[in-house]
Amino acid sequence: MGDLPIQMLHGKDQRSWLHHPASVHQDGITVEGLIRRSLEAKEFAYCPYSRFRVGAALLAHDGKVFTGCNVENACYNLGMCAERNTICKAVSEGYRSFKAVAIASDLIDQFISPCGGCRQFMREFGTSWDVYLSKPDGSYVEMNISELLPVSFGPEDLSMKKVLKIPNKY
Ligand code: THU
Repeated sequence: MGDLPIQMLHGKDQRSWLHHPASVHQDGITVEGLIRRSLEAKEFAYCPYSRFRVGAALLAHDGKVFTGCNVENACYNLGMCAERNTICKAVSEGYRSFKAVAIASDLIDQFISPCGGCRQFMREFGTSWDVYLSKPDGSYVEMNISELLPVSFGPEDLSMKKVLKIPNKY
Protein backbone atom coordinates (compact mmCIF):
# COMPACT_ATOMS: atom_id res chain seq x y z
CA MET A 1 0.00 0.00 0.00
CA GLY A 2 2.74 2.44 0.96
CA ASP A 3 4.26 2.50 -2.51
CA LEU A 4 1.04 3.04 -4.41
CA PRO A 5 0.83 6.30 -6.31
CA ILE A 6 -1.78 8.65 -4.99
CA GLN A 7 -4.40 9.14 -7.67
CA MET A 8 -7.53 11.17 -7.33
CA LEU A 9 -10.95 9.72 -7.97
CA HIS A 10 -13.84 12.14 -7.67
CA GLY A 11 -11.65 14.36 -5.56
CA LYS A 12 -10.81 11.73 -2.97
CA ASP A 13 -7.50 10.02 -2.31
CA GLN A 14 -7.92 6.52 -3.73
CA ARG A 15 -5.66 5.04 -1.09
CA SER A 16 -8.40 5.33 1.49
CA TRP A 17 -10.55 3.00 -0.65
CA LEU A 18 -8.01 0.64 -2.14
CA HIS A 19 -8.35 -2.89 -0.91
CA HIS A 20 -6.15 -5.84 -1.48
CA PRO A 21 -6.08 -9.59 -1.01
CA ALA A 22 -8.84 -11.96 -0.21
CA SER A 23 -11.61 -10.26 1.62
CA VAL A 24 -14.48 -12.74 1.91
CA HIS A 25 -17.77 -11.07 1.11
CA GLN A 26 -20.27 -13.83 1.80
CA ASP A 27 -20.77 -17.54 1.41
CA GLY A 28 -17.16 -18.01 0.38
CA ILE A 29 -17.50 -15.45 -2.41
CA THR A 30 -14.52 -13.15 -2.24
CA VAL A 31 -14.36 -9.66 -3.62
CA GLU A 32 -11.58 -10.92 -5.85
CA GLY A 33 -13.85 -13.73 -7.09
CA LEU A 34 -16.65 -11.31 -7.88
CA ILE A 35 -14.24 -9.09 -9.78
CA ARG A 36 -12.98 -12.13 -11.70
CA ARG A 37 -16.57 -12.88 -12.72
CA SER A 38 -17.00 -9.28 -13.96
CA LEU A 39 -13.77 -9.58 -15.97
CA GLU A 40 -15.06 -12.81 -17.53
CA ALA A 41 -18.42 -11.17 -18.34
CA LYS A 42 -16.56 -8.32 -20.05
CA GLU A 43 -15.37 -10.84 -22.67
CA PHE A 44 -18.95 -11.02 -23.99
CA ALA A 45 -19.31 -7.25 -24.41
CA TYR A 46 -20.99 -6.31 -27.69
CA CYS A 47 -19.54 -2.87 -28.35
CA PRO A 48 -18.66 -2.47 -32.05
CA TYR A 49 -19.35 1.30 -31.90
CA SER A 50 -17.54 2.43 -28.76
CA ARG A 51 -15.05 -0.45 -28.56
CA PHE A 52 -15.33 0.05 -24.81
CA ARG A 53 -15.92 -3.25 -23.06
CA VAL A 54 -17.62 -3.39 -19.67
CA GLY A 55 -18.55 -6.37 -17.53
CA ALA A 56 -20.46 -6.62 -14.27
CA ALA A 57 -21.02 -9.30 -11.63
CA LEU A 58 -23.85 -8.82 -9.16
CA LEU A 59 -23.98 -10.64 -5.82
CA ALA A 60 -27.53 -11.28 -4.62
CA HIS A 61 -28.58 -11.60 -0.96
CA ASP A 62 -28.45 -15.41 -1.07
CA GLY A 63 -25.02 -15.65 -2.66
CA LYS A 64 -26.18 -16.12 -6.26
CA VAL A 65 -24.10 -14.21 -8.79
CA PHE A 66 -25.52 -12.66 -11.99
CA THR A 67 -23.24 -11.40 -14.74
CA GLY A 68 -23.69 -9.09 -17.72
CA CYS A 69 -21.96 -6.89 -20.26
CA ASN A 70 -22.73 -3.82 -22.32
CA VAL A 71 -24.76 -4.43 -25.47
CA GLU A 72 -24.71 -1.70 -28.10
CA ASN A 73 -26.93 -1.12 -31.14
CA ALA A 74 -26.67 0.40 -34.62
CA CYS A 75 -29.30 2.81 -33.35
CA TYR A 76 -26.72 4.16 -30.89
CA ASN A 77 -29.06 5.43 -28.18
CA LEU A 78 -30.48 1.96 -27.64
CA GLY A 79 -27.20 0.63 -26.29
CA MET A 80 -27.33 -0.74 -22.76
CA CYS A 81 -24.70 -0.60 -20.01
CA ALA A 82 -23.32 -3.72 -18.37
CA GLU A 83 -24.61 -2.78 -14.92
CA ARG A 84 -28.18 -2.27 -16.08
CA ASN A 85 -28.20 -5.44 -18.13
CA THR A 86 -26.98 -7.37 -15.13
CA ILE A 87 -29.55 -5.91 -12.76
CA CYS A 88 -32.32 -6.62 -15.29
CA LYS A 89 -31.19 -10.23 -15.53
CA ALA A 90 -31.40 -10.61 -11.76
CA VAL A 91 -34.70 -8.77 -11.29
CA SER A 92 -36.32 -10.75 -14.10
CA GLU A 93 -35.38 -13.92 -12.25
CA GLY A 94 -37.01 -12.75 -9.03
CA TYR A 95 -34.06 -11.07 -7.26
CA ARG A 96 -34.35 -7.59 -5.74
CA SER A 97 -31.93 -7.67 -2.84
CA PHE A 98 -28.24 -7.25 -3.56
CA LYS A 99 -25.05 -7.20 -1.53
CA ALA A 100 -22.52 -6.01 -4.07
CA VAL A 101 -21.65 -5.46 -7.71
CA ALA A 102 -18.22 -5.59 -9.32
CA ILE A 103 -17.57 -3.64 -12.52
CA ALA A 104 -14.72 -4.24 -14.99
CA SER A 105 -13.38 -2.46 -18.06
CA ASP A 106 -10.18 -2.45 -20.10
CA LEU A 107 -8.94 0.85 -18.67
CA ILE A 108 -5.42 0.29 -17.37
CA ASP A 109 -4.98 3.37 -15.22
CA GLN A 110 -8.53 4.15 -14.10
CA PHE A 111 -11.01 2.29 -11.98
CA ILE A 112 -14.16 2.00 -14.10
CA SER A 113 -16.74 4.49 -12.88
CA PRO A 114 -20.42 3.71 -13.47
CA CYS A 115 -22.42 6.25 -15.46
CA GLY A 116 -25.07 8.39 -13.79
CA GLY A 117 -27.92 6.36 -15.24
CA CYS A 118 -26.51 3.14 -13.81
CA ARG A 119 -25.98 4.76 -10.41
CA GLN A 120 -29.67 5.65 -10.32
CA PHE A 121 -30.61 2.19 -11.58
CA MET A 122 -28.58 0.56 -8.80
CA ARG A 123 -29.99 2.95 -6.21
CA GLU A 124 -33.51 1.69 -6.95
CA PHE A 125 -32.53 -1.42 -5.00
CA GLY A 126 -31.06 0.30 -1.94
CA THR A 127 -28.45 2.84 -0.92
CA SER A 128 -26.11 0.83 1.25
CA TRP A 129 -24.76 -2.03 -0.83
CA ASP A 130 -21.23 -2.24 -2.17
CA VAL A 131 -19.83 -1.35 -5.58
CA TYR A 132 -16.34 -2.52 -6.58
CA LEU A 133 -14.78 -0.39 -9.31
CA SER A 134 -11.96 -2.46 -10.76
CA LYS A 135 -8.99 -2.40 -13.10
CA PRO A 136 -7.95 -5.31 -15.35
CA ASP A 137 -5.18 -6.24 -12.89
CA GLY A 138 -7.83 -7.00 -10.27
CA SER A 139 -7.17 -4.00 -8.05
CA TYR A 140 -10.28 -2.18 -6.97
CA VAL A 141 -11.93 0.66 -5.13
CA GLU A 142 -14.86 -0.08 -2.84
CA MET A 143 -17.71 2.40 -2.62
CA ASN A 144 -21.32 2.13 -1.62
CA ILE A 145 -24.33 3.39 -3.55
CA SER A 146 -24.74 6.47 -1.31
CA GLU A 147 -21.17 7.54 -2.01
CA LEU A 148 -21.69 7.12 -5.75
CA LEU A 149 -25.05 8.89 -5.72
CA PRO A 150 -25.44 11.17 -2.69
CA VAL A 151 -28.74 12.85 -1.84
CA SER A 152 -30.48 10.51 -4.25
CA PHE A 153 -34.08 10.16 -5.31
CA GLY A 154 -35.59 6.73 -4.80
CA PRO A 155 -38.82 4.77 -4.64
CA GLU A 156 -39.55 5.94 -1.08
CA ASP A 157 -39.71 9.56 -2.23
CA LEU A 158 -42.74 8.92 -4.41
CA SER A 159 -44.94 8.38 -1.38
CA MET A 160 -43.66 11.25 0.80
CA LYS A 161 -46.08 13.99 1.90
CA LYS A 162 -46.96 16.45 -0.88
CA VAL A 163 -48.52 19.91 -0.88
CA LEU A 164 -51.10 18.85 -3.42
CA LYS A 165 -53.07 15.74 -4.06
CA ILE A 166 -52.54 15.44 -7.77
CA PRO A 167 -55.82 14.79 -9.60
CA ASN A 168 -56.12 11.83 -11.91
CA LYS A 169 -56.05 13.95 -15.06
CA TYR A 170 -52.23 14.14 -14.68
N1 THU B 1 -20.70 1.55 -20.25
C1 THU B 1 -21.10 0.58 -19.38
O1 THU B 1 -21.54 -0.51 -19.78
N2 THU B 1 -21.01 0.83 -18.06
C2 THU B 1 -20.46 1.96 -17.54
O2 THU B 1 -20.41 2.09 -16.32
C3 THU B 1 -19.90 2.99 -18.40
C4 THU B 1 -20.23 2.85 -19.84
C5 THU B 1 -20.76 1.26 -21.68
C6 THU B 1 -21.83 1.97 -22.43
C7 THU B 1 -21.27 1.92 -23.84
O3 THU B 1 -21.60 0.68 -24.43
C8 THU B 1 -19.77 1.98 -23.62
O4 THU B 1 -19.55 1.60 -22.29
C9 THU B 1 -19.16 3.34 -23.88
O5 THU B 1 -19.82 4.32 -23.18
